[in-house]
Amino acid sequence: MTLALEPITFSVNGESVTVLAKPVTRLTDVLRDSLGLTGTKVGCEAGDCGSCTILMDGAQVCACMIPAAQAAGSNIETIEGLATGEELTFLQSAFHRHGAAQCGICSPGMLMAATDLLRQNSRPTRREVEDAMGGVLCRCTGYVKIVDAVMDAAYGTDTGAVGQSGMAVGASLAKVDGIEKLTGAEKFGADVIPEGALALRIVRSPFASASFSVSDLRPLFKKYPGLVRVLSAVDIPGRNGYGIYPEIKDQPVLARNVARYRGDAILALVGDAETIRIIADDELPVTYYPADPVIGLDAALHKNAATIQKAYEGNILTRGYVCKGKEDPNERGEKPKPIDEGPIVAEATWQTSFVEHAYIEPEAGFARRVGDRIEITAATQAPYMDREEIAAVLDVEPAQVRIIPTACGGGFGGKLDVSVQPIIAVAAWLLDQPVRCVYTRPESMAATTKRHPARLQARASCDEQGLLTSYELQGDFITGAYASWGPTVADRVPIHATGPYRVPVVEVESTAVLTNEPPAGAFRGFGVPQCAIAHEGIMDMLAEKTRIDPLEFRLLNAIRVGDETATGQVLDASVGIDKCLEALRPYWSKARGQADMFNERSRRRRLGVGLGCMWYGCGNTSISNPSTIRVGMDATGMVTLYSGAVDIGQGVSTILTQICADAIGVPVTSIRLVTGDTDLTADAGKTSASRQTFISGRATQLAAEDMRAKILRLANVGPHGLIEVEPDALFVRDVHSQRRIELNTLSPDEQGNVLTGEGTFDPPTTPLDDDGQGSPYATYAFAAQMAEIEADLDLGTVKVRRVVAAHDVGRAINPIQVEGQIHGGIAQGLGMALMEEYVPGRSENLHDYLIPTFGDMPDIEIMIIEEHEPLGPFGAKGIGEPALIPTAPAILGAISHAIGTRIYQVPATPDRVRAAILAARTGSGRD
Ligand code: FES
Ligand code: FES
Repeated sequence: MTLALEPITFSVNGESVTVLAKPVTRLTDVLRDSLGLTGTKVGCEAGDCGSCTILMDGAQVCACMIPAAQAAGSNIETIEGLATGEELTFLQSAFHRHGAAQCGICSPGMLMAATDLLRQNSRPTRREVEDAMGGVLCRCTGYVKIVDAVMDAAYGTDTGAVGQSGMAVGASLAKVDGIEKLTGAEKFGADVIPEGALALRIVRSPFASASFSVSDLRPLFKKYPGLVRVLSAVDIPGRNGYGIYPEIKDQPVLARNVARYRGDAILALVGDAETIRIIADDELPVTYYPADPVIGLDAALHKNAATIQKAYEGNILTRGYVCKGKEDPNERGEKPKPIDEGPIVAEATWQTSFVEHAYIEPEAGFARRVGDRIEITAATQAPYMDREEIAAVLDVEPAQVRIIPTACGGGFGGKLDVSVQPIIAVAAWLLDQPVRCVYTRPESMAATTKRHPARLQARASCDEQGLLTSYELQGDFITGAYASWGPTVADRVPIHATGPYRVPVVEVESTAVLTNEPPAGAFRGFGVPQCAIAHEGIMDMLAEKTRIDPLEFRLLNAIRVGDETATGQVLDASVGIDKCLEALRPYWSKARGQADMFNERSRRRRLGVGLGCMWYGCGNTSISNPSTIRVGMDATGMVTLYSGAVDIGQGVSTILTQICADAIGVPVTSIRLVTGDTDLTADAGKTSASRQTFISGRATQLAAEDMRAKILRLANVGPHGLIEVEPDALFVRDVHSQRRIELNTLSPDEQGNVLTGEGTFDPPTTPLDDDGQGSPYATYAFAAQMAEIEADLDLGTVKVRRVVAAHDVGRAINPIQVEGQIHGGIAQGLGMALMEEYVPGRSENLHDYLIPTFGDMPDIEIMIIEEHEPLGPFGAKGIGEPALIPTAPAILGAISHAIGTRIYQVPATPDRVRAAILAARTGSGRD
C-alpha cells in the first residue's frame, strides 16, 4: 500500500513549517531532504548511534525513529538553531576550544544532547554528563574532550588552552575546520543532493560463496517506471576490478557470475530514490547457486579447500618474511631450521577477530559527468588513488577524473578503499545524469573492509639476565575474499613483530589468506595491533619466568638510538620507547602495589595492571610515498595552502596550517586552505600509515620555506628577517634593513597568486631483500601504555579503570589534537580488547556490534614525549595509529594480572574470561 503525502506542520528552530510527507517518513528525511537541514546526521536509521539527535519539545530524541506525523504540532530544535548568526553558543565554543569534534559527524548529536542536559541541569557531574549523552556514539574522540567541553560550558573551567600567540607550532590551536562541524554547516558524503540526481542502490549477494545468473530484467522496468537502469558487470566500460596494488585489481565493481563473500556487489539499481528503495531483492531475476563457503584459516589452508581466486594457489594471497641473525638461514619454502635460543623460552598462540571500523558516517557520495570528464564528490582518504581507479574503471585518462572529497565522517583506514565511487561513476558516465549513493549501516558493515583476523604463533627466548636472544612468529591473517591491503599487512607484520625491543635473532613469517569472508583491509595499524598482542604477551611471560618486573624487563630490552631493528636498520635518531617506559614507572609501581594489596583481600573482585608497548613505522613500507604541497600568496597578503592531504578528523588541516604559518613567518590567520580536490591540489598521498603530519607536514614546511625565501630575496633581507602582513603589502625587516613589498605590483598567476612556493618530501627508505633486510621506514613512533582494570571472577566481566599513556611523537605540533588522537586510539583499542567482534550476517548493525560508549571509557592520563625527528616538520612524526596499538596488549596484561591466567583470544568477552578462569582452576589452562 502506498501512503499519500500529507501536510504536516511543526516548528523548526522557532519557525513554523509545513511539509508534504508521508506520515511514516522518518523525521530525519523530512529535516534533511525537505527542509535542507543536513546538520542532523544519519548513521544508522535504527536508534543506535544517536547522530540524528535533535530536541523535540525540549527533550532529546533520535529523529530517525520519529515518524513525520508524530512531529505535527511539536517544537523541533536542530543544530542549525543553536548558534545565533555567526555567534557560537558557549557550549559550541567549548567544543571548539577543547577539540571535542574530530571528524565532526557526531558533533551535532552530541551538542543537542548536551543542550538538553544543561537546560535541565546546569551543574552536572561528569557522570551525569556521560549518562545524559550516552545515547550518542563517537568513534573518534574517546569521549574525553566532549565531556571536558560540556563541563567547561557548565562551570566555566576553561584553562584557555586554545589560542594563538607567538609560534603556531606547539600551540593547541582550535581546528581550522572546527566551526563548520559544530554548526551543522559541514558537508559530508550524504549531505548534498545535486539537482536532478538519480539514486543508486547496490544489490549484494546474500551468500558467502555462490555462482549466480541474471535473467530478463524487462518485467522489472515495467513494474517500476521509476527504475531507470540496472547495471551489471557487462556495463563496466573499462576494467571491472579495483584494489590497492597496481598489480592486484581483484575486487569487481560488479561481480561477474561469482560472489565471493556475503555482501559482494551483484547489480546496481538506478532510478528515483523511492523506487530503488522499495524494490525488494527477491523481486530481482537473480538466481543464486550457493556453494559451501571457505570460512576461517583452517578451512582455507586445508589441502582440499576450494580455491577462492584462481590466481592464488592454496588461498595464499601473499607472504611476508624477515630473518636476521640465524647462523644457518633456511631457504624460503624449506622446512625452517631451528633458531638459536636462550635458556628461557616462552611461547603461545593468540587469535584476533574481524573488527569493524564503525565510523559513524556510512559511505556516500555522488558523481556527475561534465562533458568528457567525471566528477566524484564523496568521502575518501585517498583522492589521487581514487582518481586512478575511476579512470581505469571508465577507461578514460586520469586527467578526465576529478575527485572532490567531502568532509569525512571517520575513516580509520576503511575509506582508503573505494566504495561508492566506481559504481556511481559508471552510472553517471553512462546516463549523463548525476547519480548518488548512500550506504545503509548494514550495507556499510557487510560490504566494506575490516581489520584482519589473525592467528599469531609466537616463541621467544632470553638469557638468565633477561636479555632477549630470539623471537619467532608465524602470523596468519585472514584477508577475506579480495586482496585490499592484505599485502601491506603481510609486509608490516614481520617488520614490527618483535615490538620495540633489541632482538639479535629473529625469524618471522606472515601470510595473507583468502577466504569467503569480507575483504580485510586497512584499519589503524595494518596488522601491527594484532602482532603487538603477541609480543607484549611474550614479554610478560618472559618477565615472569625471569622474575623481573615486567616494566623493567621491557626497559632492559628497549631499542635505543644506535640499535639495529629486525630488518637490520640502525636507528639513528628519535627513539623514545625508553623514555615512555620511564615516564610510566612511578604510575606502574604504585598501581601494581595497590592492586596486589587489594587482591590479597578480595576473592571475587580483582584488580590488574598491565603494560603495552609499541613502535610504528610512519609512512608506506619500503616504497616511495611522496607528498607535494603548494602555497600561494595573493595581492592582499592572504596565503592559500593547497593541500591534497585529506583531513579525516585527525586534524591534518590544522597541523599543516600551523606548520605553514611558522615556516613562512606569518600568523595562522593569514592562511586559508584549499584541500583534497584533485583539480586544485597536488598529490599528497593517502591519509594512512600515520604519514600526513610527518610527510605532508615536511612537504608543507618545504613549500612554505620556498615562499619565505622568495619573499626575503625580494626584500633583500637575511634569513632571519621578520615578515609582517599589511593590507596589500608585506613589510620585511632584519637588523640591517627593512623593505616594503607592494604585492599588487607583482604579476598574479592563474590562481591569482603573486608569490608561490612548492615542496615535495619523500622519506628515505630502502627495499627489503629476500630476508626482509633493509630500511623500510624513515622514522618510527614509540609508545607505552599502562592499563588498570577490575575483573569480576564470577562473571568474567572486565572494567578498564584507568589508562596512562606515554607517546613519543617527535614534536607535538598541536598538543590538544595529539591528546585527542590518543583518547580515540585508546577507545578503539579497548573495543578491540574487550568487545568488538564482527561476524558476517550476525553483527551488521550498531546494536549487535558494540563499540565503546561514554560509560566504557576509563580515566586517561597522557604524557607526550618529544624525541626530535630530524626529518620531520619541526621534529614531528605520527600519532594516528600508534595511539591504538598498545591499548589491547596493556588491557590483556592487566586481565592476566587480575585473574592469574592469560587470555589468548580477543575480544576478551566475559564468556572467554570466565572460561579461562575455570580452565586455570581445573588445571586445563595453558599457563
Ligand atoms: Fe538515528 Fe543512528 S541515525 S540513531
Ligand atoms: Fe565523533 Fe568523529 S568526532 S564520530
